[in-house]
Amino acid sequence: MAKVILEKIEKRFINNPKPAVAEMSLEINDKEFVVLVGPSGCGKSTTLRMIAGLEEITSGRILIDDKVVNDVAPKDRDVAMVFQNYALYPHMTVYDNMAFGLKIRKYPKDEIKRRVMEAAEILGIQELLERRPKQLSGGQRQRVALGRAIVRKPKVFLFDEPLSNLDAKLRGQTRTEIIKLHNRLQATMIYVTHDQVEAMTMGDRIVVMKDGFVQQIGDPVTIYDQPANKFVAGFIGTPPMNFINGKIEKKNGAVYFGEGSFTLKLDKSMQEKMAAYDGKEIVLGVRPEYIEEKRISKLTDPDWKISAMVDVIEPIGAAAYVYLTTGQSSFVASLDSHEQLKVSEKGEVVFNMEKIHFFDSQTEATII
Ligand SMILES: Nc1ncnc2c1ncn2[C@@H]1O[C@H](COP(=O)(O)OP(=O)(O)OP(=O)(O)O)[C@@H](O)[C@H]1O
Ligand SMILES: [Mg+2]
Repeated sequence: MAKVILEKIEKRFINNPKPAVAEMSLEINDKEFVVLVGPSGCGKSTTLRMIAGLEEITSGRILIDDKVVNDVAPKDRDVAMVFQNYALYPHMTVYDNMAFGLKIRKYPKDEIKRRVMEAAEILGIQELLERRPKQLSGGQRQRVALGRAIVRKPKVFLFDEPLSNLDAKLRGQTRTEIIKLHNRLQATMIYVTHDQVEAMTMGDRIVVMKDGFVQQIGDPVTIYDQPANKFVAGFIGTPPMNFINGKIEKKNGAVYFGEGSFTLKLDKSMQEKMAAYDGKEIVLGVRPEYIEEKRISKLTDPDWKISAMVDVIEPIGAAAYVYLTTGQSSFVASLDSHEQLKVSEKGEVVFNMEKIHFFDSQTEATII
């Protein structure tokens, strides 16, 4: 059992009026894989370091297995942290690097050997045990750093951007390895990244942070489909959600979104709620995959169609990102690459109005 509870934890550094982490509350269940994600400086590493005990907490409580650990030394918290810069000892072999943490904790020699060999087998690095770090590739070094955490059999694994030094392909592979590792070790893992793809693919739950504040906590699908605000909506997803400024307009007994150069009729499901915003400024959010090419779209409502100039087409293999502009607003559609829009020509696209969002233009909170 290893449950981690953060109770309104806050971190203020001296000489900085803004908290690095503010009133953060989170319950991480036993065996859960939780990802903290957010832009640079949002407080991810600080949160992790507070859990590890490397950073004092200004206020609040941290509990590991129902025990308050605020004043427990890092070495007694039974957590293991894997950093971005592997921090391996250059003069030691891979074996000694992995064994080191156990040696200083005075584990018997044969127990150390058993654990190191077991970890080496899990990570597929048995052949590398006699090498030194500089004789390894980046990916291999990263596995040694993982091995060093695994041998400790900690209650909780903490990862701080462990893959960011790897190239794209290796990052993908190692990501899969860490997911497998989680399944095999059945351990509680807290993983920090600024990469939303990593967050979406790895996390049982994702915690989206900004400026020290938690924006939303949820499973990947919920975060993607029901973002709590415009920030989360724009942060998760590639290409990001399009935001279009406009007004809600009631006419002929129906509710429309008016951008200025085009209007779109709202879906039945949203009419009633959005009628209350008649005449008000609003932000429409639409993901690139919910803008379709008119010619092949199954959406036939003429009031969901607009015409826009094609600026750029980026083929990415199975799909193409098509950048469009109406003069006033620009947006990107993710379309099947075989469709036939042409650069510098007008094209007709359909917004899937069942899938759009609206955000309050002042507070940026999600309305729908
Ligand atoms: N020792 C420190 N003294 C003062 N301010 C600090 C200190 N460490 C971090 N900060 C500030 O706290 C805030 C959060 O930093 P943190 O390292 O947690 O961000 P992060 O989300 O991990 O960012 P990144 O993705 O760049 O690693 C930042 O504004 C940072 O400048
Ligand atoms: Mg960081």
